[in-house]
Amino acid sequence: MIEFPKDFFWGAATSAYQVEGDNLSSDWWEWEKRVNVKEPSGKAARHYEFYAQDFDLAKELNQNCHRLSIEWARIEPEEGKFSTRELEHYQQVILSLKERSLIPIVTLHHFTNPLWFAKLGGWRNKQAGSYFLRYVEKVVSELAGDVPFWVTINEPMVYTYFSYLLGTWPPQDKSLLHSRQVTNNLVNAHIKAYHLIRAIYKKHNLTYPKISIAQNMQAFVPCPPSLKNKLAAYLRHKFYNLEFIERLIAKSTLDFIGMNYYSPSWVGRGEHLPLKKNTMGWDIYPQGLYDLLVSLKIYKLPLFILENGICADNDALRWDYIREHLESVSKAMLHGAKIMGYIYWSLLDNYEWDKGFGPRFGLIEVDYHSYKRYVRESSRKFAEVCKTGRLS
Ligand code: BGC
Repeated sequence: MIEFPKDFFWGAATSAYQVEGDNLSSDWWEWEKRVNVKEPSGKAARHYEFYAQDFDLAKELNQNCHRLSIEWARIEPEEGKFSTRELEHYQQVILSLKERSLIPIVTLHHFTNPLWFAKLGGWRNKQAGSYFLRYVEKVVSELAGDVPFWVTINEPMVYTYFSYLLGTWPPQDKSLLHSRQVTNNLVNAHIKAYHLIRAIYKKHNLTYPKISIAQNMQAFVPCPPSLKNKLAAYLRHKFYNLEFIERLIAKSTLDFIGMNYYSPSWVGRGEHLPLKKNTMGWDIYPQGLYDLLVSLKIYKLPLFILENGICADNDALRWDYIREHLESVSKAMLHGAKIMGYIYWSLLDNYEWDKGFGPRFGLIEVDYHSYKRYVRESSRKFAEVCKTGRLS
């Protein structure tokens, strides 16, 4: 029997573009049409309309917090023109979480941008941070009173990798130089946003919120564990997992380390034991989460798992995944890692970017014809853990 602390945060995450539907002013929307993707996002899960019912389900599943994102392109569909209607929409969304005692963890940037911003060069533009801050100021000023956790940027390394290095996501750039420019602009944007958010809370006499990013981390495993592979794995860990957060920690702008973990990355050409996989072919390796959590102790900051999840057609595998990763979390806590909570990705089946609607990550199944929701068995089991704080 494993016992988690009483004040542990239990929840699930979504991101606006992946669930809301009809994000007409976003760069992704335009890109989907232009390159003619196989499956455009369209209505997604229609969460924009059904958020209240979806939060009812999260509540019914005993969650006590919820991670969501705000779509910048809705708030500022044209440069400098802010939509009161959309600001009110998100106020309603936050209110409806509050009514259900679900603590909001709000992400300000989750991969997508307003189209006008992308046309100005997006995150490569020297002014990118200033545009972002103007949006942050609007949103945070509206929602401050009800949001105790802000995540400025989701997975900056994933974003720069797919959008600026590999070139599979908009703007489909493939340049090391550009990817570095974007990384630097994102670092600076976070640092400024951190101070801005705190200034807004101060102005309104509110207790400071906790601010971080959601950093995707991979377990780099040397295989076989030769000296050469160990060194290569260490360097990748330093660069991919740590560089970005270390730059923010150096400026004292991370109140906790928000981390997203899914899978390992093998370093070397050796054979490794065959592991179970998700439907996108990613290996399942709970030990990796333990190793990462323990390695992060050196920063002496609380850790918060902001995403961990599996796309699976076999729901029993989903529960195995959650259970085994929670075992890793608990083991890491026993070894001194201070962990605030565990957020599963995702509350709902959703639009998995360029992979379309095939991968099913949801605790809740979405029927994309009727848009009905079906609670999966795995989420009932997870709900027991959320309720009791115990895993047997
Ligand atoms: C992202 C999500 C995505 C999930 C599964 C994370 O990297 O934040 O947007 O759906 O992984 O691929």
